[in-house]
Amino acid sequence: MFPVVNCKNLVMLQKHRINRQINSRLLHLKYSRFWRNLGLAIASLLAVLCVIIPAFSQQPVTVRVLVQALEAAQWQPLVKDFNENHENIRLEVISGPNNTNLVEDLYTSAFLLGDSPYDLAYMDIVWVQKFAAAGWLSDLSNRVTPGQLQAYLEGDIDGGRYQDKLYRMPFRTDGGMLYYRTDLLEKIGAEPPDTFDELIEISQRLQEEDLAQWGYLWQGRQYEGLSAMFTEILEGSGGFWIDPDTQEVGLDKPEAIAAVQFLRDTITKNISPPGVTTYAEEETRRLFESGNTAFLRNWPYVYSLASNSDIAGNFAIKPMVHAPGKNSGACLGGWGFGIASTSRHKDEAWAVINFFNKPEVQRKYFLETGYVPSRISLFNDPPLVEKFPYLPNLLEVVQNPVLRPPIAQYAQASDILQRYLSAALTGSRTPEQAMQAASNETRALLNR
Ligand code: GLC
Repeated sequence: MFPVVNCKNLVMLQKHRINRQINSRLLHLKYSRFWRNLGLAIASLLAVLCVIIPAFSQQPVTVRVLVQALEAAQWQPLVKDFNENHENIRLEVISGPNNTNLVEDLYTSAFLLGDSPYDLAYMDIVWVQKFAAAGWLSDLSNRVTPGQLQAYLEGDIDGGRYQDKLYRMPFRTDGGMLYYRTDLLEKIGAEPPDTFDELIEISQRLQEEDLAQWGYLWQGRQYEGLSAMFTEILEGSGGFWIDPDTQEVGLDKPEAIAAVQFLRDTITKNISPPGVTTYAEEETRRLFESGNTAFLRNWPYVYSLASNSDIAGNFAIKPMVHAPGKNSGACLGGWGFGIASTSRHKDEAWAVINFFNKPEVQRKYFLETGYVPSRISLFNDPPLVEKFPYLPNLLEVVQNPVLRPPIAQYAQASDILQRYLSAALTGSRTPEQAMQAASNETRALLNR
């Protein structure tokens, strides 16, 4: 017997088949949508991984550094050049105050707080010991070979070391010099002075003949520049501040008292203006450039600025004056780079240091600013020597500089000296009293 398939059954069967087909199509459609969506999701994920994330990670890393205002402005062409040539790094320069102590304070408080915003520390040579001892700097010793370091002045490299490790790469060096007015000296037939007494005598003659209002300008404000300047007068008097090896303090010795007396005399004899005890580098530079002063103690940066002032062509520089039979003292100053130990971008920070220390970058910068390079070869570099003829002679001076004591307590020692020098220079203590008190306090500091 055949199953009886009537019409109704046939229609039912047909419907059933159609439904099955529709269901299977729907299921197929559902699955293929699922796969398509999954595919799309995977593709999007891959796009994120392969395109978007790398694009984000290619955002330049920002390297920050705090720099004194005057130099921050002078750096602008270098910063532009660096950023244009390093698409993965953005160098950001934060402009600070001009006073070196204030910049040091800003770095100090940033480092004390822990997560410093600065990757690089652009440091005065005298900060290195303190910053390194506090653990704020990262060791650079493995980033340079001894051979590479030989290209720089020895004093600049030594000044960047703490306990045999290197924490600062020098960028530019500095040494105190005596500026004098060639035209005024010629008018009275005087040779540039070598001794303290000659400087006083020439100043007085020029003042008597109404050729100069002031004889001598120096940095007398109570700040780091006062300590730097004083080391030169101290050396010229045959004295010393602190012997870093024996910790002996020399501030109450007769030579040191004579050094303070010389500076005080310039004020009481009216050779230096009474306001000199409030002047830093820039105040003395501007006054000297205004044309009514015979001598100025300052750093070499003044040379190029004064060459564009009213006294252009009428001044020269020479090593500092000294007592008969003693040596000229040029305080070793200078600025260089360290990398903050907290920086998350140490390699990028090192790339900045490398760029700033390229000979061609340095040449361009020093030609424009008149600062003194730290690369020895640039002291005899023809384009630089043509513009700054004193450079070869200056090399000798900065190769035999006077150091401010390279000790971890330098900041406190300098603060003590500044306070007592200030008291003696403004006449509130005699040089003997002031230097006796400064010595006692310094000894107590070193014994702590
Ligand atoms: C200059 C020197 C620096 C010194 C400072 C004092 O910037 O380079 O070493 O401490 O003057 O004002």
